[in-house]
Amino acid sequence: KDSTYEKILEMNIRAARFYYENLKLNKEKLNYLLERNLDIKTIRKFGLGYSLDSFTSLLNFLKKQGYSEDLIIKGGLASKSEKGVYDRFRNRIMFPVFDYKGRVIGFGGRVLDYSKPKYLNSPETLVFKKGTNLYGLNFVLRNGSPKDLIIVEGYMDCISLHQYGIDNAVASLGTALTKEQAKLIKRYCKDVYLCYDSDEAGKAATLKGIDVLLSEDLNVKIINIPRGKDPDEYVKQFGAEAFIKLKEKALPAIEHLIIAAKNGKNFNEPRDKSRFVKEAVSILKLLKSEVDVHMYASKVSDMTGIDIAVLLDEFKRSNTDNK
Ligand code: CTP
Ligand code: MN
Ligand code: MN
Ligand code: MN
Ligand code: MN
Repeated sequence: KDSTYEKILEMNIRAARFYYENLKLNKEKLNYLLERNLDIKTIRKFGLGYSLDSFTSLLNFLKKQGYSEDLIIKGGLASKSEKGVYDRFRNRIMFPVFDYKGRVIGFGGRVLDYSKPKYLNSPETLVFKKGTNLYGLNFVLRNGSPKDLIIVEGYMDCISLHQYGIDNAVASLGTALTKEQAKLIKRYCKDVYLCYDSDEAGKAATLKGIDVLLSEDLNVKIINIPRGKDPDEYVKQFGAEAFIKLKEKALPAIEHLIIAAKNGKNFNEPRDKSRFVKEAVSILKLLKSEVDVHMYASKVSDMTGIDIAVLLDEFKRSNTDNK
């Protein structure tokens, strides 16, 4: 690889250290994280930091270390406007983004109040490609090869779960799981749990995520966090054992999809019922084995009172329609 690539990686480590030192020196900002229930050990492990409320502090620090403005911009740590070059991240809690090898490829920065955007991330750079990485994977791999992985949305979800000893959590960073991320997972294990926020965005993203994961042939289960919470809030309030119970109760993706299809439909309405049957039949097409098709068709039959033979007939018919 060319030397710009290596230089950006090295510069990112220096930036992460700079942010970390700022945090250590700034009780008030450190308190934000402590109040969010993170302990010092976790803060150090994940290399969390703070970007000063200044337009030039990182810029000056890096320039003193011999990095050119050009490289600092290329690495996504500063931006250029008519007024000049300025730090991209200001007055934010900083989350270094590691790749699976533990290299710092970029950053996310969170505001300490309610201003927007809540998180600002590095732009796409030579070393930071959004959607090809899974946050936290480097820490998961430290413990050997994982039996299964838990995919969460955010930085804090991933970090909290690790702090509570649930050390196989990774974050897709946002709600759109990509094919590249699914392929990355597949390199390490076949069993994955999707555990997105239980708000509307999280629910919609779960449905899309299932598609992506199933098309990579992974075994997918859905952890359902109750009452509008996210995994961070849940584990903080109820503890690791409660979370592990939710994991044990996770539904296979197909069952989750069937339940989601039923949601909001009234089976006393023929139109609703027939819409559900059509949706359920198209969900069955995601299954790879005939045995599974039978098993889930029988569940749909139980739910609707429609003869399983009719359902299977519809299934076969819609399969030939597609060819
Ligand atoms: N995200 C982002 N930019 C935003 C909002 C969200 O990149 N403006 C990404 C972040 O990686 C974030 C994840 O999407 O961690 C999930 O978003 P959300 O659920 O809104 O935030 P939380 O992770 O719950 O953040 P917090 O607990 O700090 O409020
Ligand atoms: Mn969310
Ligand atoms: Mn959260
Ligand atoms: Mn969240
Ligand atoms: Mn058959």
